[in-house]
Amino acid sequence: MLEITGIDVFHGDLQAVWDVSLSIEGKGITTLIGSNGSGKSTVLSTIAGLLKPVKGSITFDGVRIDTMPAHKIVETGIAMVPEGRRLFREMTVLDNLEMGAITKRARQKKNETMAWVLDVFPILKERARQRADTLSGGEQQMLAIGRSLMSQPRLLLVDELSLGLAPVVVQKISHILDEINKTRGIGIFLVEQNVVMALELADTGHIIENGCIVGSGKASELLASDQVRQAYLGMDGE
Ligand SMILES: Nc1ncnc2c1ncn2[C@@H]1O[C@H](COP(=O)(O)OP(=O)(O)OP(=O)(O)O)[C@@H](O)[C@H]1O
Ligand SMILES: [Mg+2]
Repeated sequence: MLEITGIDVFHGDLQAVWDVSLSIEGKGITTLIGSNGSGKSTVLSTIAGLLKPVKGSITFDGVRIDTMPAHKIVETGIAMVPEGRRLFREMTVLDNLEMGAITKRARQKKNETMAWVLDVFPILKERARQRADTLSGGEQQMLAIGRSLMSQPRLLLVDELSLGLAPVVVQKISHILDEINKTRGIGIFLVEQNVVMALELADTGHIIENGCIVGSGKASELLASDQVRQAYLGMDGE
């Protein structure tokens, strides 16, 4: 579904990503794991078009997207749930969801998509008229995901799903993402510092260190590998 081929990405003069290649399938969940500052968000922002690679390419269903502006990339069917959620804190839950219907196609189907999103996250229905900043952390993450779903993506990019959330809440949201993937066929690319959670949820995993991919494979095999056990499991839960 999505192919990243040999991208180099910079923040100003600083190179953050070196020659990264990976593919994301619509079937199943793909994760990119790595420690703090390893380049995960940089890769995600590059897919979303907020950063441009200086080398390499990104294609989505065969169409080159890395040369497109970010709003065009949304129209192709890619939505991002950004790190830290970035909600409109003083707006209601419903208004936040409405803001997610940013493409023409999404606006036409807004009511239908809204009904589905509220069905997927019933708590958002209960909280519909509350301000976003009155929600719990888990509810805010659900709202951020729901807002992204309002653009009717075929691929959902999620940056640090688990950040600041209790394990039981992470488990609940993980389960919902899995359902969305299985029942709707929406591809999911999850970027995580929480290595155990990410590899338990995903089918395929990639490991990034200092901006380079250093391992890829079936998530269950990565979870059992010496590479992951030695480098990450001691650090999990920090
Ligand atoms: N806006 C920016 N300007 C300059 N350097 C940046 C910027 N954003 C990230 N970097 C640098 O790029 C590198 C990769 O950062 P990135 O945010 O992609 O890592 P990450 O894996 O998402 O980390 P975290 O787990 O903390 O979210 C780091 O060295 C970081 O300091
Ligand atoms: Mg990050």
